[in-house]
Amino acid sequence: MIQSSSYQNRFSQKDFEDLKNFIEEWCGIEFSENNRYILERRVQTRIEALKLKSPRDYYFFIRYSPKRHEEVEKLINILTTNETYFFREKHQLKAFSEEILPELHRNNRESRSLRVWSAGCSTGEEPYTIAILIIESKLFHNWNVEIFATDINTEVLQHAREAVYTVKSFRDTEQRYLRDFFDKLDGGRYVVKPEVRSLVNFGKLNLLDTGRIRMLPRFDVIFCRNVLIYFTQEAKKKVSTAFFDSLKDGGYLLLGHAESLINISSDFELVHFKNDIVYRKPRRGEDEETSSRC
Ligand SMILES: C[S@@+](CC[C@H](N)C(=O)[O-])C[C@H]1O[C@@H](n2cnc3c(N)ncnc32)[C@H](O)[C@@H]1O
Repeated sequence: MIQSSSYQNRFSQKDFEDLKNFIEEWCGIEFSENNRYILERRVQTRIEALKLKSPRDYYFFIRYSPKRHEEVEKLINILTTNETYFFREKHQLKAFSEEILPELHRNNRESRSLRVWSAGCSTGEEPYTIAILIIESKLFHNWNVEIFATDINTEVLQHAREAVYTVKSFRDTEQRYLRDFFDKLDGGRYVVKPEVRSLVNFGKLNLLDTGRIRMLPRFDVIFCRNVLIYFTQEAKKKVSTAFFDSLKDGGYLLLGHAESLINISSDFELVHFKNDIVYRKPRRGEDEETSSRC
């Protein structure tokens, strides 16, 4: 097909490999030969926008141009997969509401503080879902609750801060949640209520920036769902170590259902809840009753 191969012909094997390696080093996202065409097609749109002559010119641009930081941000914004919706992966959320939150309520009684990180939050449906579940639990009234929500993509973060959603985001949302935690706007849109929004702080953060992650106060729970699935093995290892260091002892790491730490990390223990199996950073000197080493 002449049409679809026109951009491909312009990328040599070396062009593809240089760009692929650059992106993997920058943000961990892997582009294999199987999805090479996605990378090339999207990079081509940037080559055209900048009126550059070739993929090689583009590679030099993102490596050495004084405007490279701005351009890499634009490139990453078009390369990430941002699919998400409210109340995604209900079994895990049930374990969070019914088992993890009551435990944290007991354990953090003295500090009255709860810190959750939604790492790779996309357009915000995940952190707002977490906020709704925390409010609904009625366990943390007058506590210091912070949900830190981060992503590498600046466009999805802008959407997340605006907190306006359409039907696509509510494909698995019960009506009662829409009624209680959203205000209806025109055109079938809904905006998240201020009570929910006030619990969530958004920020740009590249998960490979482990220096910055180390500066964050520790968390009780980290949600990182459907993010590592796109990463190289090396990036998965780096990020899982950063998560381990960022969790309080006994803190939980919740990954997506298609993701696991097999062959990535043996630091965490697996906890078998009624509703789901999740990862936990071991408490020092704890008798491991309900858990197993992974
Ligand atoms: C498929 S979405 C998952 C959204 C949400 N966690 C969920 O499960 O519904 C993956 C998100 O990870 C973000 N992401 C990818 N690489 C990243 C990186 N290196 N640092 C931070 N976020 C990243 C993408 O921008 C995207 O918004």
